[in-house]
Amino acid sequence: MGGPPDPEDAPDPHQVPADERAELERLAVDLVEETGALIREERPDGLGVAHTKSSDLDVVTEMDTRAEALLRDRLAAARPEDGVLGEEGGHGAGSTGLTWVLDPIDGTVNYLYDLPSYAVSVAVVLGDPTTPSAWTPVAGAVINPRTDEVFHAHSGGGARVTGRGTTRSLAVGNQARLESALLATGFSYDRAVRRGQAAVVSDLLPRVRDVRRMGAAALDLCHVAAGRVDGYWESGLQPWDLAAGWLVVTEAGGVVTGPGGSGPPSGDLVLAANAILHPLLSDEIDRLSARP
Ligand code: IPD
Ligand code: CA
Ligand code: CA
Repeated sequence: MGGPPDPEDAPDPHQVPADERAELERLAVDLVEETGALIREERPDGLGVAHTKSSDLDVVTEMDTRAEALLRDRLAAARPEDGVLGEEGGHGAGSTGLTWVLDPIDGTVNYLYDLPSYAVSVAVVLGDPTTPSAWTPVAGAVINPRTDEVFHAHSGGGARVTGRGTTRSLAVGNQARLESALLATGFSYDRAVRRGQAAVVSDLLPRVRDVRRMGAAALDLCHVAAGRVDGYWESGLQPWDLAAGWLVVTEAGGVVTGPGGSGPPSGDLVLAANAILHPLLSDEIDRLSARP
């Protein structure tokens, strides 16, 4: 069929009662906290690459596999009727319409090198997360186990960050000018795709405050939610990279779309910013991405 995804296809997260959405958020927080502690505490000295996936650059460590197994065990006990889509273990449908979307380590290359910017991302979504635009996040959480910050949200409930025993609300920044915007992006594991991504950055970089490549998409989105960067864009993401962070940004008052500045984010593009900057950045990324 082709064509841009139609946001009308996505289910309404308010089909899930508000108290259940809040309960799902609490479970997502518990899951990322336990799994975050596992990957931080049990990271082996001399950690190596267990295998590679989509390309030689797309690495998996033994801890990605262990972290996902822990998440799946806990979900099998707590929510046995829900589906699960995990980066390492694939998709199993459930009977409730809800599916847990798991990135056991987001930022695996940082984790491999012990760079302290990686995450566990857990979201629960309504609809089919394997079909672009046919799903909506209901609740989610993202932890950076090295800062012990947990970013979390449920649909309609606002977004929060919890760290060092305190929880505070998240709100996107108010940057209105592209020239002054601090942006984040990420690059594909496909070396050929990176040529096009580098060309986009090359054009944009002299015209903005700066561009960060921090290496964990889920955290990039949470940084938009916290006003720590003004905008973020990346193409080629998978549902597990974006499901929880998308919700956190939206609940923090931001806008997250795909190409054309509308429609849900997808593998084609995830573009997140405050409502004023979003259309400006979106026009730039669309224009630069369309160049031959
Ligand atoms: C990757 C990270 C990275 C992004 C890649 C993702 P992984 O996830 O989020 O920042 O640029 O597109 O695949 O492989 O570390 O889970
Ligand atoms: Ca990821
Ligand atoms: Ca991962």
